[in-house]
Amino acid sequence: MPTTETDPSAAPDWGFVGHYVGRKSLVPDWGALGQYQFIADALMEIARTVIDTAQIKKGEAVLDVGTRTGNWSLLAAEAGAKVTGVDFSPGLLKIAREKLKDYPDARFELADVAKLPFVDASFDAIIDVVSLMFGADREAAIAEMARVLKPDGRIVWTGWAGGDAISEAAKIQIGTATEANGHPPHPYSYWGVEDEMRDLFGAQGLDIQMIKHPIAHTAPSAREFLEGIDQVHPTSRACSLALEKAGIFEQTMEKMIGVLEGRNEDREAFKVSRHFVVGIATRKH
Ligand SMILES: C[S@@+](CC[C@H](N)C(=O)[O-])C[C@H]1O[C@@H](n2cnc3c(N)ncnc32)[C@H](O)[C@@H]1O
Repeated sequence: MPTTETDPSAAPDWGFVGHYVGRKSLVPDWGALGQYQFIADALMEIARTVIDTAQIKKGEAVLDVGTRTGNWSLLAAEAGAKVTGVDFSPGLLKIAREKLKDYPDARFELADVAKLPFVDASFDAIIDVVSLMFGADREAAIAEMARVLKPDGRIVWTGWAGGDAISEAAKIQIGTATEANGHPPHPYSYWGVEDEMRDLFGAQGLDIQMIKHPIAHTAPSAREFLEGIDQVHPTSRACSLALEKAGIFEQTMEKMIGVLEGRNEDREAFKVSRHFVVGIATRKH
């Protein structure tokens, strides 16, 4: 089992997984806001599904896009891969390098997924555990991943199927925050909508398969669910700071709670279900 940097004594007292955000990052440095490590721990199920789906073999060259602190690069290295992680946060890469210091083949580069510093056909597998959805220009990221992928390689990425209560609440939060900041309306992308993904990967000569996995989020109440996320999630923190500055934090929170309560599956507390998606892209033959 990989070790993460979590201090269990400071953890929120209920569990959740993930949070949808759109295609342009709202947070310049994921190490600077929130406490993402708590979410990373909860993402273990998704990460393991990605690693299993990628079927990494000993000696393969694996690229982990948006590696953050290298948790899932470590899983790939443990499977025998020569792993390379990229991220655009220098502080997080420093932690990743330290974490994988016993793996001499592991390397970590400061880079945007949409502009990868690697020669063509370098990697057998490219893995993404909920990173592409947060910051990447989809067309450019897919073109770059296709370029650095070996002819028989595979890209395994993650997304949210969308249409669920949490995605809808997040749209309100991000849309209102970006507007309050004077940014143009936020373009939403879950990396989980099959027709869109087929077109985007298809344009780079890649076939795709997407598998949906159910997941449920619970908390004592919808408000506590959102407040819990806001303690730890960098993008939620970034949005909340913008909303507080604009004096519209509470009214936005009320709107989000309304959406979550409208789809609540638990009369006594709070529960909503949704699907995460694991996609596999391979070259068309
Ligand atoms: C939600 S975190 C997930 C990190 C990691 N895969 C995990 O599961 O712990 C998203 C990460 O992707 C990185 N990221 C987002 N967009 C990126 C981009 N376009 N290029 C490189 N890194 C990016 C962020 O800095 C952050 O570390």
